[in-house]
Amino acid sequence: MEKIEKITIGILGGTGPMGLGVGFRLSQAGHSVLIGSRDEQRAQEVVEAKKKEFNSLNLTISGSINETAAKSDVVIVATPAEALHQTVSPLKEHLSSKLVISMVNFLTKVGREMRPVMPAYGSMALELQHILKDSQIAVAFNHMPAEELLDLNFNLDSDVAIVGSSKDAISLTSDLVRSIKGLNPVAIGSLALSYSIESFTSVLVSGSIRNKSHLSIKFRGLE
Ligand SMILES: NC(=O)c1ccc[n+]([C@@H]2O[C@H](COP(=O)([O-])OP(=O)(O)OC[C@H]3O[C@@H](n4cnc5c(N)ncnc54)[C@H](OP(=O)(O)O)[C@@H]3O)[C@@H](O)[C@H]2O)c1
Repeated sequence: MEKIEKITIGILGGTGPMGLGVGFRLSQAGHSVLIGSRDEQRAQEVVEAKKKEFNSLNLTISGSINETAAKSDVVIVATPAEALHQTVSPLKEHLSSKLVISMVNFLTKVGREMRPVMPAYGSMALELQHILKDSQIAVAFNHMPAEELLDLNFNLDSDVAIVGSSKDAISLTSDLVRSIKGLNPVAIGSLALSYSIESFTSVLVSGSIRNKSHLSIKFRGLE
């Protein structure tokens, strides 16, 4: 895996609010970003509209099909949980030996609450590792509200809990998160903890609905 300075980052399913939000924030940090989609034209239109909205035509971010995005140095998965397998499986070869970061949560709506669903492999990140046996897997951004990421005028101020399949995966993901202004990476541990990270999002989203706000996390007690 490469050291993270200025690298290319591909986002699978990047046309949704989360992929687009993380993508634009990473391009503001100086990285080259490819927003992946099943439909290249849609991806290009979505990216151009966002650039115009925030007067940021100078940013190095563009739209592509998911396969092209998967050829980037580091790849982020931003599909819904139900689409993870079908999106990632055909791209195994491109993703081999790379860092692949998942922000995927598996939640379901019950009344006014979002509740966690237990994925068949124990977590969405463990499912990803099962599909991509030769890739380094990390988990990040799960607790970030898309609305805040997408509003480029909003000053982010959140911790980002990170777990990963190796020290390298955690460390490179932390560097990437740290490159985004206002985000502080907090290394938590191995992928065995990924379900705890993913499912805790249900607390934040349900609390956000109830309190008409956008909750994210800040840990206490860090040096
Ligand atoms: N929304 C939040 O605030 C938030 C916060 C933290 C984490 N997350 C997690 O981050 C991920 C992305 O969230 P999001 O709200 O941005 O997702 P989304 O808008 O529902 O989906 C993202 C993109 O995935 C692609 N996609 C959708 N269904 C697909 C399918 N059946 N097969 C292949 N591709 C499909 C679509 O892109 P194309 O049509 O262009 O291919 C879509 O624009 C989710 O796993 C979510 O749990 C969300």
